[in-house]
Amino acid sequence: MNKQEKLTLVESAIEKFYGDKQVSSSLREAVLYSVHAGGKRIRPYLLLEVLESLQVPITPAHAKVAAALEMIHTGSLIHDDLPSMDNDDYRRGRLTNHKVFGEDLAILSGDALFLDPYALIAQADLPSQTKVDLIANLSLASGSMGMVAGQVLDMEGEHQCLSLDELQTIHANKTGKLLAYPFQAAAIIAELAPELQAKLKTVGELIGLAFQVRDDILDVTASFEEIGKTPQKDLQAEKSTYPALLGLDEAKVFCNQTLDQANEKLDEISQLVDFDKEPIVKIVESLRVNG
Ligand code: IPE
Ligand code: IPE
Ligand code: MG
Ligand code: MG
Ligand code: MG
Repeated sequence: MNKQEKLTLVESAIEKFYGDKQVSSSLREAVLYSVHAGGKRIRPYLLLEVLESLQVPITPAHAKVAAALEMIHTGSLIHDDLPSMDNDDYRRGRLTNHKVFGEDLAILSGDALFLDPYALIAQADLPSQTKVDLIANLSLASGSMGMVAGQVLDMEGEHQCLSLDELQTIHANKTGKLLAYPFQAAAIIAELAPELQAKLKTVGELIGLAFQVRDDILDVTASFEEIGKTPQKDLQAEKSTYPALLGLDEAKVFCNQTLDQANEKLDEISQLVDFDKEPIVKIVESLRVNG
């Protein structure tokens, strides 16, 4: 299955979920506005790609799990952009959700995107224990043990000079855990041994850390057209970021070294189990920052 086919499966799983239920048409419109704005879809793509690399044939149930992850990520972006948080006007090349629908509906759209995924996974055609594990781990990656906690630390860290360790904790939680989830979920679905599940999770954590460092770098170096959001925002908000703490060049080195470590782990895994690491290495390579 090629990338476009995988992403189409994921997008239709989200569409179908909201197509079936129209309790509030304005909520549906606001939610789908942000979902349809696109984005790179790296999290759901990774999930399906890792499954395929583990020789698991992709089914609509797997697409539902990947869709659930993209929904939580999209909800996190809607809330991250709110005036009381990063106060951003643009996301994924369009006006942010609250700019179009108002803050009240934007908050509620985020709420919906945080809660709906659990029903979507529960309804998937997978063994019950698999679904319980998928749901528990998605909650841990998203809530008070993951993304939400990281966002709180990020907010509290504004206008402060954090240590590199503190910053790494923020990045690991606000971004790392939702990027590790594709690896955890694929390992759960493939019913891998716990040691292998842990190794795959580590790959995801490394990619997640590099991903947020790259995002910090792009905030400094990229244009609106490249990132679909207003650049130079972290400086304005006096956020601690890798470029702010290490300098731009060192931040790039750190990002690339972290990606090297992810590749080393992938190699290790490919020697322990039937795992085609190449498609994942290709995604890792696409995250390198040059220059
Ligand atoms: C943006 O995530 C927020 C971060 C965690 C860095 P993405 O860069 O994956 O955003 P989209 O989904 O492509 O819009
Ligand atoms: C946000 O990090 C991570 C989330 C949990 C949404 P940022 O605030 O750096 O993400 P962008 O730059 O707005 O996409
Ligand atoms: Mg933020
Ligand atoms: Mg932001
Ligand atoms: Mg950013």
